[in-house]
Amino acid sequence: MATQSVLEAPIAPMDAAPGAADAAACNFRDPAFTANRDAPVHRWAPWIAGFSKQFVEDALDRHAPTHGVVLDPFAGVGTTLLEADLAGHEAVGFEINPYAAFACRTKLAAHRVDSPRLREAISAFAAFGETADSSGCEPQSAPPAGFRTRTPFYSPNVLRKMLLALDFIHTLDCPQTADLFKLAFASTMVQCSNYSYEPSLGRKATAGRPDVDDFPVFEAVAAKLSDMAGDAEWSRHARSRPERPDGRVFAQSFFEGYRSVPAQSVDLLVTSPPYLNNYHYNRNTRPQLYWLGFCESPRDLKRLESLNFGTYWQNARERDAVEVASPVADPEILEAVSEVRRKNPEKGVYGGNGWANYAAQYFNDCGRFIEGAKWCLRPGGTALVVIGNSILQGVDIPTDRFLAVIAERSGLNAVEIHSPRDARVGSSIVNARVPGSGRLYESVVELRA
Ligand SMILES: C[S@@+](CC[C@H](N)C(=O)[O-])C[C@H]1O[C@@H](n2cnc3c(N)ncnc32)[C@H](O)[C@@H]1O
Repeated sequence: MATQSVLEAPIAPMDAAPGAADAAACNFRDPAFTANRDAPVHRWAPWIAGFSKQFVEDALDRHAPTHGVVLDPFAGVGTTLLEADLAGHEAVGFEINPYAAFACRTKLAAHRVDSPRLREAISAFAAFGETADSSGCEPQSAPPAGFRTRTPFYSPNVLRKMLLALDFIHTLDCPQTADLFKLAFASTMVQCSNYSYEPSLGRKATAGRPDVDDFPVFEAVAAKLSDMAGDAEWSRHARSRPERPDGRVFAQSFFEGYRSVPAQSVDLLVTSPPYLNNYHYNRNTRPQLYWLGFCESPRDLKRLESLNFGTYWQNARERDAVEVASPVADPEILEAVSEVRRKNPEKGVYGGNGWANYAAQYFNDCGRFIEGAKWCLRPGGTALVVIGNSILQGVDIPTDRFLAVIAERSGLNAVEIHSPRDARVGSSIVNARVPGSGRLYESVVELRA
């Protein structure tokens, strides 16, 4: 691996992702989560912006040959943590979304699941579903009062079955079995609804699909649970060094919590922070957050949003001018933010100033992330950061290069920018289709302490 800084290389033209020339020889497989859909345990909880287990396997093979500490500061549903744990490393993560953190914890405990007990509970659940359905009995549970949607989230038939399923879950006295049921319930709950991920949560009708009048809820949850029981057995054999404690995830912001990781203790950091695309992880998991009781009111969601890496355009657009903080204030970054700020002043809060504020906050948070990474990484330790570029108000923003610049300004070595996947689509990317603007790509920024 070359140790020359990538920043000494010429700036890549925007029609070619940095490193695209040697994409074929790239060291990492495609990081997109779709590859996890059938992978044991990973498939328990789909995550719209998760990455693939194959990418993490490549990262561990290349950068963590001996057992060590692996950190994911923005853990999502725990792809890094689970793979690191299976491979025998000590896995540590942070995640602000309580549903995602719950999915991580439940997956990391897969090897301790009592599969025969789980299978018994699944049979009882299926029998309960059949009896309750045919007897016409009314559910005891109620839908979460704070969860409001423009049109009913569930049709009456489906709602009744969802509530009956919850009634059953509330009778489970084994906490681990109950967690598995809750995760199976939560990870199938959107498919039974009148909403879908497009990739943001929206009405099926808006996407041209019919509402869901009825759905085999008990069958869908039971099928998920059966997969879980099989995967749990698999994970007991797949987990190398079974005597180790489970991987850990802190349901906390990395910015607030990183000092609880012993200084210079991490061998490898593998992560993907939120991109500069204003994707609302918290809003998009409102069904799971409310129905599992992690949120009760919009105030709870607001608090999560305020913790999010880069905040959101909606929170930044009305401010006068968010400054790029001095550790991040590289001339190239300042110029990109200023260019966005000058765009479309006639559009008021929807014009360039609001987006420039959002970008400035994002790069300030890149600086906070790098500070945390510096604290955690041991000398010689590596960070691999999967990040997508952005196009704001028609201005191309090479977030990968900017992250590398910020890291170098803070004393980390930016070793290489890899290009595992040189095209990306994203309907939530703002103005991505402005004529003449560049294209979307994803990179892996490799940093060394
Ligand atoms: C791109 S996703 C990571 C997906 C993950 N690689 C996986 O495979 O599941 C980014 C995650 O960062 C989380 N996040 C945002 N701000 C955070 C913060 N300040 N601290 C910890 N996690 C944060 C989001 O909730 C989101 O789940």
